[in-house]
Amino acid sequence: MLAQCIKENWVSSAGPQVEEFERAVALLTGRENAVAVVNGTAAIQLSLIAAGVGPGDHVIVPDWTFAASANAVAHAGAVSHFVDVSEDDWALDAELTQKALESDQGIKAVIAVDPLGHAAHMDPLRSLCEHYSIPLIEDAAGAIGGSYHGRPCGSLGDLSMFSFNGNKTVTTGGGGMVLTDDDDMAGLIRHVATQARPGIDYIHDRIGYNYRMTNIAAAIGLAQLERLDEMVEFKCAIASRYDEAFSGRNDICPMPRPTHSDSACWLYSVRLPSEADAKSLVNAMEDGGVEARIFWRSLSSQTPWCDAPRTLNGMSASLSGTVVSLPSSSSLGKDEQARVIEGLNKWSGSGLRTQ
Ligand SMILES: Cc1ncc(COP(=O)(O)O)c(C=O)c1O
Repeated sequence: MLAQCIKENWVSSAGPQVEEFERAVALLTGRENAVAVVNGTAAIQLSLIAAGVGPGDHVIVPDWTFAASANAVAHAGAVSHFVDVSEDDWALDAELTQKALESDQGIKAVIAVDPLGHAAHMDPLRSLCEHYSIPLIEDAAGAIGGSYHGRPCGSLGDLSMFSFNGNKTVTTGGGGMVLTDDDDMAGLIRHVATQARPGIDYIHDRIGYNYRMTNIAAAIGLAQLERLDEMVEFKCAIASRYDEAFSGRNDICPMPRPTHSDSACWLYSVRLPSEADAKSLVNAMEDGGVEARIFWRSLSSQTPWCDAPRTLNGMSASLSGTVVSLPSSSSLGKDEQARVIEGLNKWSGSGLRTQ
């Protein structure tokens, strides 16, 4: 596929593989439309534009997510209203979302993030969005292959998106995809992503972006997609192996696997009792030649968002700096998994328990 697209000189955004990749991801998620773009951040920004979010509008964003979710809001000229995550699934808390919607009349959309490969608890969030007549945007950046009550991640928002960044289960090097059943929104996204140029003439009808995915990236994505089931199965097997290996420890809490979801186990992560424990674990793993990393931190506490509106209860703050991601790539061999387990089990910790 990749060789073919280079041989036939279809390397930029014009070319058959982009559309083929879109059709394949639309089929996977059961959606009417898929639009392939340069990265997941652009996919969120375009989703917001299609949802009618503009300058000065407020958008609910979980406080515990990758910065891209909130950066995309800023790129659309809007303001993030940070809402805390739930202890059960580390995803947007519906009760707090309701509280935020009651108190902030400027909110024009909700972004719910599917963290670590499992879905947010979407049904209550969808009911709230319907009640307030605002769109629900699913940031499923790392959740391809997961599902919620049997419905695939990527199908759960009015607009949903995936990232195909290098660290994702399906990667195109860099890339993203917006998914929606709304033909008009999909048409608008396609248009705005290609410099808002209705024809081949150099006439433009609004400000646009150069956000279309290249054909080369799409060809890589198509090849990757063929292995999706195998990769998800492999990642879930790693997660089960780690769960079992750490089950005897009361200072390591594995990432949630909420009953509403079948997790695609994108990034196996554990919660430690304190930030000092998390740092000490990362250092101990590094000494053993294993790369572990402290994961997302609360965004509302960081410089770019220190004045942002917020509805919090402290959950995100308590995850901040205490969640550590362990190697869980679909290419991680059995021996490498054993080294991760050995490294972690050698680490003695501070003696505190996770909450
Ligand atoms: C939750 C979340 N949203 C958005 C993104 C942005 O995707 P990209 O890196 O493709 O721009 C990421 C990427 O890691 C992410 O984890």
